[in-house]
Amino acid sequence: MKRVFSGVQPTSQVHIGNYIGAIKRFVEFQNDMDCFFCIVDLHSITLPQDPKKLYENSLQLAALYMAVGLDPSKVTLFLQSQVPTHSELAWLLQCNSYTGELNRMTQFKEKSQGKESITAGLYTYPVLMAADVLLYDTNYVPVGNDQKQHLELCRDIAIRFNKKYGETFVVPEPLIGKFGARIMSLDDASKKMSKSNEYEHSKINLLDTPSKIKKSIMKSVTDSESEIRFDVENKPGVSNLMVIYNTLSGMSLDDIESKYKGLGYGAFKKDLVEVVVSALEPIQSKYEKILKSGEVEKVLKEGAEKAKEVSNGILNKVKKKIGFVMF
Ligand code: TYM
Repeated sequence: MKRVFSGVQPTSQVHIGNYIGAIKRFVEFQNDMDCFFCIVDLHSITLPQDPKKLYENSLQLAALYMAVGLDPSKVTLFLQSQVPTHSELAWLLQCNSYTGELNRMTQFKEKSQGKESITAGLYTYPVLMAADVLLYDTNYVPVGNDQKQHLELCRDIAIRFNKKYGETFVVPEPLIGKFGARIMSLDDASKKMSKSNEYEHSKINLLDTPSKIKKSIMKSVTDSESEIRFDVENKPGVSNLMVIYNTLSGMSLDDIESKYKGLGYGAFKKDLVEVVVSALEPIQSKYEKILKSGEVEKVLKEGAEKAKEVSNGILNKVKKKIGFVMF
């Protein structure tokens, strides 16, 4: 069985960009691949986190993983900080990666821009990500477009290690969706929808209320025309809304264009509110039930045991190849 690994940071609320670009797609793999989906809490502390919020967000994210349809009897769900092999392999890989490659990471440049002090963790973040993936002999990594460069680095690290020490790691393939791999901010279609954007109407969170969703969509940027047409270059705002419509309703972009011919942005946005609310409503009601059931902690404990077992085997193989004394 091919193996799939991916992770999401438990920093603030999960938004529809995370959902469409990554989490929604995770569900598609669970029936015929061996899936590991991680809550990457170690990654989240590369930027300051309030401990109470981090704790809550981590459990919330686990409940959301289940609420979107991930079935813990089919997939392994776990917290990165519960599986020490991640930090250990990250160190070994740091000693096999170069500052030159880390200096080229655009996400590091963006996240460190304008900051007075930057943690070393933010800098070595992509190596921890490589460790996450390589620890499970991962074949496929479903992610949004913003993780493409990190996964290229992961592949480079794996290939280099294999050349130096002999075949050790499976070289993973990123799986980036054709549509929805980069959902843009609702208030500025030149920027990606991001958890770190503090303007509440720049994004729709999975747990937003229908009235908040309505406000955010009705306020979203379009352009001075009135035509619903998919044209990312000239109509980025409308095209972004069309992708959200398409990925959440299943209606093709062509069919959306025909349906709203001559109707203008108001009618289109009103229907988009319906599409988003009805896509999120079942997730929200399942989420509440899962949180109340108390099963999250049990699932995470079992997930961590399974993750330890699999990743230990691979870590030990790496340590032997490097030349560490093993008893
Ligand atoms: P994170 O937590 O920022 O995002 C989680 C997933 O959501 C995708 N994503 C988006 N997709 C479409 N449109 C957007 N606006 C958007 N914003 C975010 C991300 O691409 C990601 O797939 N470094 C990763 C977490 C990570 C990881 C891993 C992923 C750690 N280790 C190993 C895969 C494999 C991150 O910060 O994701």
